[in-house]
Amino acid sequence: MSASITREDWGSASGPVDRYLLDNGAGLRAAVLTHGGVLQSLEVPDRTGATANVVLGFDRLQGYLDNPGPYFGALIGRYGNRIAQGRFELDGTTYQLPINNGPSSLHGGASGFDQRLWSATTVDEALELRLVSPDGDQGYPGALSVTVRYSVTVDNALRIDYEATTDAPTVVNLTNHSYFNLAGEGSGDIYDHRLRINATHFTPVDADLIPTGDFHPVARTPMDFREPVAVGERIRTGDAQLAHAGGYDHNWMLDGPSGELSPAAHVTEPTSGRTLTVSTTQPGLQFYSGNFLDGTITGTSGRLYRQGDGLALETQHYPDSPNQPAFPSTVLRPGETHRSTTVFQFGVSAT
Ligand code: BGC
Repeated sequence: MSASITREDWGSASGPVDRYLLDNGAGLRAAVLTHGGVLQSLEVPDRTGATANVVLGFDRLQGYLDNPGPYFGALIGRYGNRIAQGRFELDGTTYQLPINNGPSSLHGGASGFDQRLWSATTVDEALELRLVSPDGDQGYPGALSVTVRYSVTVDNALRIDYEATTDAPTVVNLTNHSYFNLAGEGSGDIYDHRLRINATHFTPVDADLIPTGDFHPVARTPMDFREPVAVGERIRTGDAQLAHAGGYDHNWMLDGPSGELSPAAHVTEPTSGRTLTVSTTQPGLQFYSGNFLDGTITGTSGRLYRQGDGLALETQHYPDSPNQPAFPSTVLRPGETHRSTTVFQFGVSAT
């Protein structure tokens, strides 16, 4: 069987919403919504060949409209993660963004790209989503034109290519906010998933989860994932750095050469045998262990999502980069094209 993309109606938000099914013909099926560019479902095989949906979400559009807070599967923009005080300076002008998370602006503001209706076309066996964010949208300068391309490959990978251009200087940090559970969405917590992160340093944060500006070695800290570690191992021991965030909610500085597609993280789930390798051109990885899920949301298969029931591996620039001169720049100027690629490669392990 070869790859296919099909479309179906999926209700209405600020306009009619479509759901696109990308089927690689070899066991991987992705469902993507034009609402928020949400990766609504992602079926992949386990070591016996049985498929399960490995991302958290909802079975109806209304779930996404009623519960934007966790950003399940959504495209995030204009700026993934936090900007301190929702404020930054660019070329001598100070911009104030709406505050929507404690004292910070999170994931592009109260009405981020996760809540927009994207236009969709299929191009070369990929689903191409487009959005134009007008000048001043959520406080950000410049009209930003964004293209995000979802594609699936025969070797069970989901690839996401991002592109953006602007008509005035601005900042941009795009990502996808999928929560994975390789044992299957709704099957319980991810604390036994084993995680490796290709990073020797991370960016420590203050009480509001804003980077202090330091680059800290992972060695001898709970952030050391250079060798595979069960996600829950150090959360369960109540380590102070993790306790204040309720688990992991930190940015790792990836060792791979920024700008080139290189491995960022590897996850294995012992029971199903499913594995996930995340590769990216981005300099950072926000590993978030689903700390704010609190058992109040019912997910796709009708089960409650509790703390730790999914983990997000958000490939992106470091949080608060517009206020941190030592971090890789997120500034985009007219005439430049912002580009990044992330590949989620699935597989199985024998043991
Ligand atoms: C952030 C978390 C936040 C979560 C859901 C993650 O990217 O790092 O702090 O709670 O998104 O909004």
